[in-house]
Amino acid sequence: MPDLQDALAADYNVLVLPTGTDRPAFLARWAGQVTVVVTSGTQGVGEELMRQLPALEAVVNFGVGYDTTDIRQATARGIVISNTPDVLTNCVADTAIALLLDVLRQISAADRYVRSGRWMQARYPLATSVSGKKVGIVGLGRIGRAIATRLEGFGCEISYHNRRSLADVPYRYIPSVLQLAQESDVVVVAAAGGADTQHLISADVINAIGPRGYLVNVARGSVVDQDALVRALVDGSLGGAGLDVFDNEPQVPDALLGLDNVVLLPHLASGTVETRRAMVELTLANLDQFLADGSLLTPVA
Ligand code: 8YV
Repeated sequence: MPDLQDALAADYNVLVLPTGTDRPAFLARWAGQVTVVVTSGTQGVGEELMRQLPALEAVVNFGVGYDTTDIRQATARGIVISNTPDVLTNCVADTAIALLLDVLRQISAADRYVRSGRWMQARYPLATSVSGKKVGIVGLGRIGRAIATRLEGFGCEISYHNRRSLADVPYRYIPSVLQLAQESDVVVVAAAGGADTQHLISADVINAIGPRGYLVNVARGSVVDQDALVRALVDGSLGGAGLDVFDNEPQVPDALLGLDNVVLLPHLASGTVETRRAMVELTLANLDQFLADGSLLTPVA
């Protein structure tokens, strides 16, 4: 975020980590003095970089997801981590609903249809209704809950899969993600990324959603077996998908680009002026707090 970079450059003693071949020389010169890293969910402080920073005390992460940072090493070394929860919940949930509406009602595909003049030749085929659908949410954290609240307005029947069932929600808990997929018309992924959820949405789960079912992912590409997803979308064994996230962003599999049963977004779920400004403020507030007294406003649990 340019605003964040500008604020850091103006008010702090900042070094910018080079991304290219000059990184080793930079680290050899400075690594021993770096106490705090400010990073983003897409970069993070991975295993190797963290090892190269012996004086590191804190990782201040711009973004709610911090799966690119090596939590295990951080915990072992007493390095604390903050993220930016809450401030982006509404926008990410809004994007999940937008993807769900778009892929079922074919909004983007129909827009392309009008623009290319095809309406002159024939009517657009019928789409799939959203209201009243059975929606299974994978990961009922802050964002999953906000998605569920919105779906209540569409009269959807909501169930969820989570590490554990939650006492304070009216939705049905399903302990197996496969069963959730079998019993849902739409599966929405809102779980944290990382090793624990790697390919949680497996080929079997995708098949269980089925040719008349849909997948929406606003979490991380890593939560879904992307090869299996692409195969299922191409051969029709999955009805459709709305995707904000991918493996290896910004690469998107070529096979998806020509499909009308897929809506593709460039990882923009939190990407509004209001929310990104709030994320910048919370990132800087965490940094200030850490520099003042060694604590964080929103530490990662
Ligand atoms: C950000 C996100 O775009 O918060 C997250 O986890 O994925 C997005 O809000 C990203 O982290 C910024 O790099």
